[in-house]
Amino acid sequence: MRRLEPEDLVLVLGARPPSDVGAWLRDGLRDAVASGRLEAGAALPSSRSAAAGLGVARGTVAAAVDELVGEGVLESRPRSSVVVADLALRPRGTAPGPARPGVATERPASVGSPDPGLFPRAAWARAVRDAMRELLDAELGYPDPQGLLVLREALAGHLRTARAAPVEAEDVVIVSGVAQALALLGQVLAGGDPAGRVVVEDPASPGVVEQLRGAGLDVVPVPVDERGLRTDGLPDAAAAVVTPAHQFPLGVVLAPDRRRELVAWARDGDRLLLEDDYDAELRYDRQPVGALRGLAPERVALLGSVSKLLSPALRLGWVVAPPGVRDALVDAKRRADLGCSVPEQAAFARLIADGAYARHLRRARLTYQRRRGLLLDALARDAPHVPVEGVAAGLHLVVRLPDGDAEARAVSALRAAGVPAEPLSGTAARGDTRGVVVGAARVQGPAVPRVVEILRAAAVGAGVGV
Ligand SMILES: Cc1ncc(COP(=O)(O)O)c(C=O)c1O
Repeated sequence: MRRLEPEDLVLVLGARPPSDVGAWLRDGLRDAVASGRLEAGAALPSSRSAAAGLGVARGTVAAAVDELVGEGVLESRPRSSVVVADLALRPRGTAPGPARPGVATERPASVGSPDPGLFPRAAWARAVRDAMRELLDAELGYPDPQGLLVLREALAGHLRTARAAPVEAEDVVIVSGVAQALALLGQVLAGGDPAGRVVVEDPASPGVVEQLRGAGLDVVPVPVDERGLRTDGLPDAAAAVVTPAHQFPLGVVLAPDRRRELVAWARDGDRLLLEDDYDAELRYDRQPVGALRGLAPERVALLGSVSKLLSPALRLGWVVAPPGVRDALVDAKRRADLGCSVPEQAAFARLIADGAYARHLRRARLTYQRRRGLLLDALARDAPHVPVEGVAAGLHLVVRLPDGDAEARAVSALRAAGVPAEPLSGTAARGDTRGVVVGAARVQGPAVPRVVEILRAAAVGAGVGV
């Protein structure tokens, strides 16, 4: 096995920048592995000698190595040696690091998708293996359509702490993502009274609206402002779908008085609130606001999934259902597909129970917080007139551009640069809502100045802040 010297690292990394040495080290090493400049199987020098050779703190080297081991770019071997991973063994389309122009992926990434390079592959593989060892023969028949009890128990414990909401295992229904939760609850609502109408935020995720319409519901858009959904004069409807912790796409938080008004509206008319909690655990500046469900467990169905926190590829989510709809929801789930995959549910339960899920969430939060911070710092420095909206949370950010051409140009330039982007107008019922939704969680390294330049030019083109 070839052992790299500190000088080899100096060669591939180039000059040390004056600031943000951690990001320089991590991104430089990742690029060097992906491009083959550091060959697969080569062993890194000890963190002590690497730190001395590069002129950085030992902790900085250890943190960068730790993160790259988690991404699968480096591999930790027994007797504390760390080697360069063989990326050729990774499946196509999973090269680590920022999306690169011209690199084909199976499907374009959505603005809200997490960085697949952060997926805890080793921990997930361990969880699958352990789960398969423990599953009884009897559990390999058709599943309980409500979901595997060990997973419902593990999730109830996690959500009670993470979302400050009352959750018992008996309230939890396992589904294949928030999309299926909406489709199934939509079916339940379509048969209820007053049947057929559901309030949605304007703007909202087009996918959410599509699921509700697909279930036969009439969607009634209600505007969102900087304090979340407008609750004055809510129309009559059987339910409302809201994103209180982090509005999609505008990124605002539902104000406390509006939370109370929304719950009062639900109670007054025997209505259901569907709390789409899609990315609530990714708050960077403080603890996330507690779930709306905490205010009215009998009125609020809390919908969540692993799509933003682990990967949308798993198709695994949950509904914490009020007693009044739980049985109808389980029945709809049974009719739809007889229940979710037992081995995947068991593996996710293991991941939660052995602490690997919490460790992954901590690491993902830190990574996305740092990327978001670097992008916002660069915007503040080089394009201070670009109006970024929303709180420090989630995987995306929004820039308003009150000009249709500027919106279209920004979206296509970002996509051409390999950055997920959507027109804000595609999420809105009102014609005057324009701008760009950017998949900020994947923007790092050389993509940062490119994104800044695209947004700067778009804002100038739209006459914003100039
Ligand atoms: C606001 C919002 N809700 C729900 C979903 C659907 O998520 P899932 O993958 O859990 O079906 C998405 C997906 O992007 C989303 O952006």
